[in-house]
Amino acid sequence: MLKLIQPDDWHLHLRDGANMTSIVSATARCFARAIIMPNVKPPITTVAQALAYRQKICAVESRFNPLMTLYLTQDTSISDIIQVKNSEHVIALKYYPAGATTNSELGVKNLQQVWGIFEAMQQHDVPLLIHGEVTTAHIDIFDREKVFIHEILDPILTHFPKLRVVLEHITTQEAVDYVLHHNISATITAHHLLMNRNALFEGGLSPHHYCLPVLKREHHRQALLEAATSGNPKFFLGTDSAPHAQSDKESKCGCAGIYTAPAALALYAEAFEQVNALDKLEGFASFYGADFYQLPRNTQKITLEKSTWKMPLNFKFGHQKVIPFRAGTDIYWKQN
Ligand code: NCD
Ligand code: ZN
Repeated sequence: MLKLIQPDDWHLHLRDGANMTSIVSATARCFARAIIMPNVKPPITTVAQALAYRQKICAVESRFNPLMTLYLTQDTSISDIIQVKNSEHVIALKYYPAGATTNSELGVKNLQQVWGIFEAMQQHDVPLLIHGEVTTAHIDIFDREKVFIHEILDPILTHFPKLRVVLEHITTQEAVDYVLHHNISATITAHHLLMNRNALFEGGLSPHHYCLPVLKREHHRQALLEAATSGNPKFFLGTDSAPHAQSDKESKCGCAGIYTAPAALALYAEAFEQVNALDKLEGFASFYGADFYQLPRNTQKITLEKSTWKMPLNFKFGHQKVIPFRAGTDIYWKQN
């Protein structure tokens, strides 16, 4: 049995409309707060839109505190940054390189055009959350994070040494090393702690294991596991739970995203247990993210019990279905 302060999810996709309504409770059951990604359609680019989106989430789950983000585009203005600075509920901006992932068409194409925005974010101490992959077609997909770190991230941090940055859902040894040696934090997903790239081809092509950044080799998974369980506060929990309708995943061009929310904390516990580090779970899941965002730590406690249950085969997703990670198979930890 594990008792820990209630955790928060520092990287979450809730979608919108009827889809959001059917999935928000899976996260609210476990997490007190979550950072809500802005890549809905159309994307959330203003504080007013973020607050309207937030109200819809709260109407479904009043006990849950969604922390909103703005999608950084070429049109983001200094005034947007100041509004975020002054907002209690909108707390960061998300940088998607154009074309890097789901609904990222409006992302940043030219770094120079957002340089002034970074300047304002540094000045007003507004966190920047980064999807760290280059999109250049000739770069091997397994190298896109590593190349991004050298070509894009490093110049940003060199020019803006005080900018508060989270490199989201890191997947490589190179990212771990970079975070360890620079003024930057990182989120790590449960699925990148539990799977390497073989899982994409287990007994055939597995669309439900496809996400971005794509799964990497085993030695990268080991590096992530070591970082997550190190007790270093630069690394904290962000599920990147990213539901898509079954038909969009199981298609001739299946989209990226893994739906882990229904068992998120249990999956992290499973990963931490693999390396006998359950004592490090609370810091990673419940303390370090709150500290980074300068928010109070939660005070409620939750209990996780070592008890096996079966993940349902699917969940309602608006008028469709979503297949969760580990559908129909055993989960080893259970939240009471
Ligand atoms: C995310 C989504 O579906 O919105 N997909 C994913 O594979 N992680 C977007 C993202 O975070 O890259
Ligand atoms: Zn994401």
